[in-house]
Amino acid sequence: GTVVLAYSGGLDTSCILVWLKEQGYDVITYLANIGQDEDFEAARKKAESLGAKKVFIEDLRSDFVEDFIWPSVQANAVYEDRYLLGTAIARPCIARRQVEIARKEGAQFVSHGATGKGNDQIRFELTCYALYPEVKIIAPWRIPEFYTRFRGRTDLMEYAQKHGIPVPVTPRAPWSMDANLMHISYESGILENPKSHAPADLYLMTKNPEDSPNVPDVLEIEFKNGVPVRVMHVKEGKSKETPLDIFSYLNEIGGKHGVGRIDIVENRFIGMKSRGIYETPGGTLLLKAHLDIETFTMDKEVRRIKQGLGVKFSELVYNGFWYSPECDFVRHCIAKSQENVEGKVQLSVFKGQVYVLGRESPKSLYNEELVSMDVQGDYDPCDASGFIRINAVRLREHHRLQGPSGNK
Ligand code: ARG
Ligand code: SIN
Repeated sequence: GTVVLAYSGGLDTSCILVWLKEQGYDVITYLANIGQDEDFEAARKKAESLGAKKVFIEDLRSDFVEDFIWPSVQANAVYEDRYLLGTAIARPCIARRQVEIARKEGAQFVSHGATGKGNDQIRFELTCYALYPEVKIIAPWRIPEFYTRFRGRTDLMEYAQKHGIPVPVTPRAPWSMDANLMHISYESGILENPKSHAPADLYLMTKNPEDSPNVPDVLEIEFKNGVPVRVMHVKEGKSKETPLDIFSYLNEIGGKHGVGRIDIVENRFIGMKSRGIYETPGGTLLLKAHLDIETFTMDKEVRRIKQGLGVKFSELVYNGFWYSPECDFVRHCIAKSQENVEGKVQLSVFKGQVYVLGRESPKSLYNEELVSMDVQGDYDPCDASGFIRINAVRLREHHRLQGPSGNK
């Protein structure tokens, strides 16, 4: 049969490629460009030289921003109060194209190099099953003949040497990385001890705030439908308008000022806790800006319901259920809530922080006259007496039952 392998160009998936061939498969490699720093042409040559029947290199950067990052911005998606889901949203994006290719090429099988202990295997495979129900999945890191043969990096290196797989010359970082436009994540290796600090040179997307510029950058982000449509550097006057340009520019400015670094212990779907370090510069800037324009333009009670949906969305996406009826439903509700989320937010970016400076919107629900301390507006202060006394009914009853000493 034919298998479409999600290929990274690295040692693991190169060994998987050759191993699959040994098992008798025709192998098509597929490498998604979602903004990681990679020599794609070198990867193509490598896959060809290792006997890939066909090589696909797909530029998914704009799709990733518009179809996956933007809905996450609308949702204010954050997992366990801190993680902005940069890896979790990339997996359905990668796997969606993978099954498209598999169908087009008449391949019955897909394969990936995710380990058997993580979230990524779940996200890849749930997406594949959801979009190509008949597909058969080959996950080598869960196949005993594979993982008992490759017990560690030395085994992979040895196999590579024997099979003409170019072995990496630069020494590998003592941790595992996953990079895309949205973020870079770092875990395992020396980071597995949750108490040990990350070395200063680990971070590739953001400057250390201690070494970042002593002058802030002031940006104006314009939103429509809850997503950015323009970002402008206020002093320099330059602006970006396509989704990919906007997001890349926010990464650049956020990265320059060290915005969006976190070091957390999180709960994997599989049930174990894992320690991860993340840098999400542009995503962090957008989260702050979006929260501001959203509160400015959205009804109070709609916002409360929508906030809960955002938490639900984040859990579903983390657990791999991007393509599921429930996530589809939640995403549509969230999108509906964003119809009036438009306007401009001005931000100062400085020393790892994002400060909101001001906002304006044609859809603002803010009524300057109504809230003013200096004018009456369409509001009678006497009404507040009754409002407060009615809210107090319950509190007074409670006190009556508790007795005078009950409320200490
Ligand atoms: N723990 C994060 C998540 O589950 C990051 C996973 C990183 N993946 C990787 N293949 N290194 O989303
Ligand atoms: C992996 O197992 O491939 C990375 C970690 C994860 O998926 O959570």
